[in-house]
Amino acid sequence: MRRKLVAGNWKLNGSLAANKGLLQAVRDGVKGQADVAVCVPYPYLAQARAALEGSSVTWGAQDVSEHAQGAWTGEVSGSMLADFACRYVLVGHSERRSFFGDTDTVVAAKFAAAQVAGLTPVLCVGETLAEREAGITGEVVTRQIEAVLANSGVDAFASAVVAYEPVWAIGTGRTASPEQAQEVHALIRARFERDSQQVASGLRLLYGGSVKANNAAELFGQPDIDGGLIGGASLVAEDFLAICAAA
Ligand code: PGA
Repeated sequence: MRRKLVAGNWKLNGSLAANKGLLQAVRDGVKGQADVAVCVPYPYLAQARAALEGSSVTWGAQDVSEHAQGAWTGEVSGSMLADFACRYVLVGHSERRSFFGDTDTVVAAKFAAAQVAGLTPVLCVGETLAEREAGITGEVVTRQIEAVLANSGVDAFASAVVAYEPVWAIGTGRTASPEQAQEVHALIRARFERDSQQVASGLRLLYGGSVKANNAAELFGQPDIDGGLIGGASLVAEDFLAICAAA
C-alpha cells in the first residue's frame, strides 16, 4: 500500500513574518496517515527547517540547478538544499517549463542532480489545454517521463515522486475531474510497469491543479492517485490541513 503524500508548493509567496504562523499551524495541525511536506522559496528553507524539525512534516524546494557547483550565477545546487535537510525538490513544474526554459533535457538533468544530492525529486508533468484538446495528453506526459527514464533509468524512480499537473488546472480553479486525473495516472503507472512492476507499484503519483479542501477526498480516492501537489491552498493553513486530512 502506497502511503499518501501531500506537498505544498508555495511558489513565489511568503515572508518571514507570514511564514511563521503558517509553518507553526501546519506543524501543529498535521495528524494521521499521510506524509506532508512544504516546498518553500529558497530563502525560507532555514526558517522551514527550524519550524518543522522534529515534527512529521518535511520541507523542500521548488527547483534545483542541474549543475553541482561553479560559475552559474543565481543557481542553487542539490547539495545546498541537502545542507538545509530538504527531503523533496520539485523538478519540471510547468511554470519552470513554460517561463524559464526548462526543457525535457534540463528537467532530466535536474532530476539526476537532485538524486545525486540525496533529495527526492518530484517530477512534474502535464499537458496544456491546447494539447488536451488536440487529444495528445498521453503523448505529452509520456514524452516528459521518457526524457527522465532515458537519463536516469527506471530504478531511479524507486526514490522519486511523479506529479501529474494539467497546466490548464493550475491556479485556475478548474480541477481535472477524478476520472480525468485517474485516467492519466493509470497511463503513467502503466508506462512504469513496462520497465519494472516493482517500481510501478511503489511509485507515488500525485495530482496537482486546483486541489481544494472540497475536491481533495474524491481525487485522492482514485486508485492511482497517491496524494497531491498543492499550490494556492497550501498558503492557507486551514485549507492545507483539510487537504492533508482528506489524504
Ligand atoms: P494550484 O497549483 O493548486 O494553485 O493549482 C498547483 C501547482 O502548481 O503545484
